[in-house]
Amino acid sequence: MDLNGRSILLAVSGGVAAYKAAELCRLLVKEGASVQVVLTAAAARFVGAATFQALSGRPVVTDLWESPVADGMPHIGLTRAADLIVVAPATADVLGKAANGIADDLLSTLLLASNKPVLFAPAMNREMWAHPATQRNVARLREDGALISGPAAGEQACGEVGEGRLVEPEDLLQDIVAALQPKVLAGRRVLVTAGPTFEPIDPVRGLTNRSSGKMGYAVARAAREAGAQVVLVSGPTALATPHGVQRVDVETAQQMFDAVMAHIAQSDVFVAVAAVADWRPAQTLPHKLKKQEGQHAPALELAPNPDILASVAALPDAPFCVGFAAESDKLIEHAAAKRARKGVPLLLANLGPQTFGRDDNALELFDSSGHRPLGRGSKIDLARRLIAEIAARLPASPAGDGGSTG
Ligand code: C5P
Repeated sequence: MDLNGRSILLAVSGGVAAYKAAELCRLLVKEGASVQVVLTAAAARFVGAATFQALSGRPVVTDLWESPVADGMPHIGLTRAADLIVVAPATADVLGKAANGIADDLLSTLLLASNKPVLFAPAMNREMWAHPATQRNVARLREDGALISGPAAGEQACGEVGEGRLVEPEDLLQDIVAALQPKVLAGRRVLVTAGPTFEPIDPVRGLTNRSSGKMGYAVARAAREAGAQVVLVSGPTALATPHGVQRVDVETAQQMFDAVMAHIAQSDVFVAVAAVADWRPAQTLPHKLKKQEGQHAPALELAPNPDILASVAALPDAPFCVGFAAESDKLIEHAAAKRARKGVPLLLANLGPQTFGRDDNALELFDSSGHRPLGRGSKIDLARRLIAEIAARLPASPAGDGGSTG
């Protein structure tokens, strides 16, 4: 659970999207967080306190003057107990008050009294969002160090279409988890490959492998949590794109090679997690290969694919390169040799090919000084450990902003 032992102050202000804050509250509790909900008077008109009380398991606070806190000063006590304050939805009114230091109700007062990081998830009509006053307020909040998640674009409750929707609760949860991770890759640009490749034989058949993409997606997510700008070049998978990550979809190894090369000059780190097919059919037939009576099974002629990782590592201005290896035998020997052959400073070996599709994994880390276990755990935990290892090996950091989560 990503939020075990964490305390989140969830402040809900008065917009239609308040109903999604109830779902967010449930997700936060499910991830192990202690959640204290604060409702503005307007929010309580959209969703009642009883709903949030049931979901968080704690009394909801709505009034500056009717305090359940022992010292009678909820605006101080509530923020001191929290690791992070999340304002979702954040109305234009709340953003305006927070940007200008106005404190005239419980939420605005606790934001001014807060000594904790604050994440705003704006939600409002698209014209309200686009208004120069709102944009000015958001820019000022960012300057003050606040995190802004979204808003998303799409259909709005008012019937209009545009930017101003609350970020979906699952994505908001990712931003909240990210806000609590150390920003060891702030200002860095990370390129990740993930998933299998698909090498077409004809319009309906092809060669592929059992990679699910889960490890590569976890690496992309962990890099983004650490403050990096992340591009994920993905073969065909059924996975959702990690929030805030730019995804480029490809099918074949050649397409993956081309997409990687198109982004490599803007990358400080390249992590090749994809299970790239070593071979492709020498020719792709334009029509479905037909079975004919009495005919021998057709032979499939193969041609080699480019080695993306080795090609990137050999570039004159190569980024910091990380490889993965799945070995079925002589793991240590083969993985160490692979690291040298590919010319990469860091290589991770999956302990056994049976990790395909699973949510957990065990990795052995190989670098110039030898090898040691990175550990065993969920793929996202291992990815976070890997990101820390990468960050520790990078040359001194450029000035990172680490600001927006949206
Ligand atoms: O040679 P092997 O496929 O075992 O190497 C695995 C590592 O090399 C992985 O990091 C994988 O993403 C990368 N690779 C690649 N292009 C290939 C083959 C593998 O980038 N054609």
